[in-house]
Amino acid sequence: MFYEPEKNDHGLPHAPFKSCIVPRPIAWISTMSRTGQVNLAPFSQCNILGWDPPYIMFSANTHFDGRRKDSVANAEETGEFVFNMATYALRDAVVLSSHIMDSGIDEMAAAKLTPAASRLVKPPRVKESPIAFECRHFQTMVVPCDTPGTFNSLVVGRVVGVHIDDEVIDKSGKLDMLKVRPLARMGYLDYTSVTDIFELRPEGIPDRMIIGMSGGKPGSQRQ
Ligand SMILES: Cc1cc2nc3c(=O)[nH]c(=O)nc-3n(C[C@H](O)[C@H](O)[C@H](O)COP(=O)(O)O)c2cc1C
Repeated sequence: MFYEPEKNDHGLPHAPFKSCIVPRPIAWISTMSRTGQVNLAPFSQCNILGWDPPYIMFSANTHFDGRRKDSVANAEETGEFVFNMATYALRDAVVLSSHIMDSGIDEMAAAKLTPAASRLVKPPRVKESPIAFECRHFQTMVVPCDTPGTFNSLVVGRVVGVHIDDEVIDKSGKLDMLKVRPLARMGYLDYTSVTDIFELRPEGIPDRMIIGMSGGKPGSQRQ
């Protein structure tokens, strides 16, 4: 089949676009407003954006009335946010935190999560999440939507601090992703999580590339 998103002429009962880029990791973003109100919300339009130094990005559409979501407004206004990894064990809290629209409610408290103090930024991280990045807002790219008055905010942050629960580092020094079991978004109302890992070792490429792909030399960001 072929369809043009502008015409939305796919003929299917549900638009297939979001099901075509899967699985999407979920950035569970904690922020603080200028007045100190904690906010937490998940965003599946997210990824890393380089590692020298590490940047991450998440993207949020506006509300129908054109208001920015709290996570975006807070990150831009305070210059700080925290990426928390969404995991299968935390799936109910992830979904709950997305449904609370009231800027005056602390979703971390509402979802009965424990705020853990960050070291370099003000917003707390989610203690129950095994991986968290403290980030400084670098830039927001505004991408227009077709609906008048609305837009997407692609928020880029520089990762200035990385928390990894020692419990998920295995004896060889690698992160045990089967233990972490990251949660990921599929299309529709579907989710998946990491329950299967396999390694592919490329042959005939220079050692420096193998070292880069497998995480670089100790202490080096350049890979
Ligand atoms: C798993 C999941 C992924 C989501 N991903 C996005 C996303 O990528 N972009 C977006 O604008 N909203 C996304 N949402 C909806 C936001 O989480 C929701 O609008 C939330 O209320 C925003 O909160 P805030 O205003 O406190 O930032 C997602 C919701 C869920 C449950």
